This record gives sequence, structure tokens and C-alpha cells, in this order.
Amino acid sequence: MRKKIIAGNWKMNMTPSEAKDLIRLLKDGCNTDSSDVVFIVPSIDVTTAAECLKGTQIKLGTQNFYFEDKGAFTGEISAKMILDAGGEYVIIGHSERRTIFKEDDAMINKKLKKAHAEGLKPILCCGESLSLREDGTYKAFIEGQIKSAFEGVSEEEVKNTVIAYEPIWAIGTGKTATADEAEEVCKMIRDCIKAIYSEDAGETIRIQYGGSVNGSNAKELFEKLDIDGGLVGGASLKDDFIKIVNYKA
Ligand code: 13P
Repeated sequence: MRKKIIAGNWKMNMTPSEAKDLIRLLKDGCNTDSSDVVFIVPSIDVTTAAECLKGTQIKLGTQNFYFEDKGAFTGEISAKMILDAGGEYVIIGHSERRTIFKEDDAMINKKLKKAHAEGLKPILCCGESLSLREDGTYKAFIEGQIKSAFEGVSEEEVKNTVIAYEPIWAIGTGKTATADEAEEVCKMIRDCIKAIYSEDAGETIRIQYGGSVNGSNAKELFEKLDIDGGLVGGASLKDDFIKIVNYKA
């Protein structure tokens, strides 16, 4: 049985002071017994958030990092910095990083390997644009994203990776993939991991769905066999996130 993992990606929202208020609003309501709950905060909020989350089982992460250890990389942060500040997870390859900040598959592969080497738990994002969905090539595209991201990644590391399937057309649009559409791709990704690695790796890896998840649609999505939770954007910034985490209630 895979434990669900429900993560809130705050994106570029919440100053450290606002983060304190949001964590105060959310922390006691989130049931962490049946799911891993992760707040993925702006890097500058990590220290404050770690302080506020002391004594809870809620985990912390950041939305990005750079694969080098240290040095002349103005504006970047390292895996060690995240871990030292209290972060445990990191998102890699979010579609906003891929499109706005031009991160390519080679960089995403380097980041995935570095995260594992440093003991940072990666949430690897994949997902197609509306045009690829409409012309029917989305499955091949996502398979390509998965294959290149995992090049040179060991089976043990794969099992400790979380994949988030986030169709770009469903992000921030209010247009959620149906539970069947999301399940179809999450299953395909699982089969892809089984084909590259093993049955065991495919059954172990956790695969989230992301894209306009909210308190009203979470249950239907998360009850699907191959959907192990969600990566939540907009709804993670308000108390609707509690409803998502406690979708079984
Ligand atoms: P929304 O939930 O706002 O659609 O964002 C999804 C997302 O990009 C999470 O990483």
C-alpha cells in the first residue's frame, strides 16, 4: 500500500510573515496519519515555516534548486541549503520552470540526480500542453519526459521519487482533468517505470495528480488506483487545503 502524498505548491505567494499566518490557519486541521502532507514554500520562507511547523508531522519543501554544490551561481540555492534550513522535498521540472525559465530535460535530469545524491526528496513534474493533448501525442511526450528525467537514476532512487502529473491545460485554469483522464496518464507513467526498472519500482513510486485540485474534486481523483495524492497550487493558499488533505472525511 502506497501512502498518499498531498503537497501544496505555494508558487510565488506568501511573504515570511504571511507564511506564518497561513501555517497557523492550516497546521492543526491537516490529518497527517493517512497521508504525507508537504508545504512547498518560497525558499525565503523555509526557515520561518520550519519554525512554525515544529511539533507537527507536516513536511517542508522548496520549488526549485540548482544542481551545483556552491559557488558563483547568483540567485540560486543548493540542496544542502534547503536541507539545513529544514526542507526535505523539492519540486523539479514544474511546467512553469520549463516554460518561463527555459529549464530543459538535461537540466531536470541533473537536478533529479543531485537531489538524490544529497538526500533531498524530489517531486518530479511532467505533463503536456493543450495542443499535445488535442493532437493525441501527449502520451508519447510524457513518456519522453520520464525517460530523460530518469536517465542514470538508480532503482532505489526511483522508488524515493514522487512524480507529479500536471497537464499544463489544467494548471490554474479551473479546468481539472477528469478523474479518468488523470488516472489514464498516472497508470501509463507507472507502467513506464515498470518497463524501465521493475514491477516493484513501478508499484512503489508515488504518482500525484496536479491541476486545479480543490476540496470538491480531491476525493474522486485520489481514490483512483494509480493516483497517490496531489500537487495543489491555488487551493493550497487557503483553508480549502484542509479539505483536500482530509478528503476521506
Ligand atoms: P493549481 O492547483 O493552481 O491549478 O496549480 C497546480 C500546480 O501547478 C501545482 O504545482
